[in-house]
Amino acid sequence: MSATTSGIGALIETARAARANAYAPYSRFAVGAAIRAEDGKLYAGANVENAAYPEGQCADAAGARRIEAMVVLADGDALCAPCGGCRQRIREFAEPATEIHLCGPDGVRRTITVGELLPLSFGPENLKG
Ligand code: THU
Repeated sequence: MSATTSGIGALIETARAARANAYAPYSRFAVGAAIRAEDGKLYAGANVENAAYPEGQCADAAGARRIEAMVVLADGDALCAPCGGCRQRIREFAEPATEIHLCGPDGVRRTITVGELLPLSFGPENLKG
């Protein structure tokens, strides 16, 4: 495990546990996510789909003010990166340098920053002053 990916075991386990609560009868693609907030606490979520498809929620929605680190965890061969809408929501509560660990069943597959996921983003700073 590299220095970048160390210390995220608890985040991964939290995301894995959250994924067990996913409700994904339509896509059958269960996703768990977990963040470590500025208060040191871990917050987790799972995707919750809806028969009215646009009403479904991605796993990446969580309830904290500052994201210190984040894990997104799913099965499948492809990397599960946050969808476009979630990237903007994550950006609201994170810095461009904040790391997101994209995980599969065996652990971290890739670590990427918010700035790499959403370059030249529009954020809260744009509306200040
Ligand atoms: N999904 C997430 O929950 N997070 C992501 O980062 C990518 C996609 C969910 C949404 C939907 O329930 C399912 O995966 C298939 O798109």
